[in-house]
Amino acid sequence: MEKIRVGLIGCGGRQGAHIDALMKMDDVAIVALAEPVDERREAAAKKTGARAYKTHKELYDNENKGTLDALFISIEPTAHTDTETRAIDMGIPFMVEKPMTLDLEQADMIARRVKETGLITAVGFQDRYLDLMDMIKDELPKHPKGGLVNGAWIGGIPGVWWWQKRSTCGGQLVEQNIHLADGLRYLFGEPLSVYAVSSRGIVKPGVNASPEYDTDDYSVCIYRFKDNVTATLESACYVAGARPNSGLVIKLRDMVIDYRLRNNLIMSTDRSTTDVRRGNDQTYDLDVAFIRAVRTGDPSGIRSPYDDALKTLKMTFAANESMETGKVIHF
Ligand SMILES: NC(=O)c1ccc[n+]([C@@H]2O[C@H](COP(=O)([O-])OP(=O)(O)OC[C@H]3O[C@@H](n4cnc5c(N)ncnc54)[C@H](O)[C@@H]3O)[C@@H](O)[C@H]2O)c1
Repeated sequence: MEKIRVGLIGCGGRQGAHIDALMKMDDVAIVALAEPVDERREAAAKKTGARAYKTHKELYDNENKGTLDALFISIEPTAHTDTETRAIDMGIPFMVEKPMTLDLEQADMIARRVKETGLITAVGFQDRYLDLMDMIKDELPKHPKGGLVNGAWIGGIPGVWWWQKRSTCGGQLVEQNIHLADGLRYLFGEPLSVYAVSSRGIVKPGVNASPEYDTDDYSVCIYRFKDNVTATLESACYVAGARPNSGLVIKLRDMVIDYRLRNNLIMSTDRSTTDVRRGNDQTYDLDVAFIRAVRTGDPSGIRSPYDDALKTLKMTFAANESMETGKVIHF
């Protein structure tokens, strides 16, 4: 079987997980990469044996559909320029990490062009590929509809420089808790409205964060969905330690489904309790789904193509708007 030839744009932390996943696949070869930071570029080139370029522009100037079958784009949220449109121009399918940009006009334009060209795309909403998420999706229709959902992503400040500034990360909801916002959409459909509040002052810039820190310490959203589903979604980065109590708790009339972020799933009724551990590597399965779609031309295994992911991005931007204006935002 001919190998799918992959190019990488960005060789930072998250791309490392994609490199590891792709290197486990017999039918994939990483053949080109672009990364401006010398040590990262050199380390990734050494690990993969790929042709190395300093920027995505150099990569696109030297590679084309004859040398690349697919691209993995994993760069800072504000670094998206012509990184996607040049792939679209060349007809090269791409997987891009969430949040795909902080510029919604740019995202709309990319989604439109992807639709016009029919290009295969995937966005890095890894949680959609979790076996635990499949179990929740199977379980929900067996119960009366409606009830409360409590979502939370609680922890500390991630290490990357751009995370500490709201202008470069979009806020914790847009950058990080977008995974659980996407989980809500995946499970309950499109939101009807959102109201959100946020707070700062617990984290001290220059004391327990970088001097540039100006993002929210926490925020709370209330998303309403059809069928009497209302979800709270908490994001907090002022808590030291790893993700205590993060996940989704779904309170149905006859069952409580307690999804502990990427770890386990507890389902309780008044008669029984089951507790299942995560059994798959969801990033690997996301990457397999994308590569399979590229090979076969059939995108049906991709759970989050660009246009769908854009709806989740807009869902988080609407919450930011509510935080800023104090108003309920209707979708
Ligand atoms: N799906 C997930 O679970 C998940 C997890 C972590 C991060 N992410 C997302 O992945 C993206 C990258 O995050 P990260 O933590 O790896 O950041 P990072 O800062 O570690 O890496 C980004 C890299 O992109 C490089 N880069 C920037 N512009 C470039 C360009 N034009 N051409 C080539 N390289 C370029 C930077 O030099 C940097 O090394 C972000 O959007 C983040 O939100 C997703």
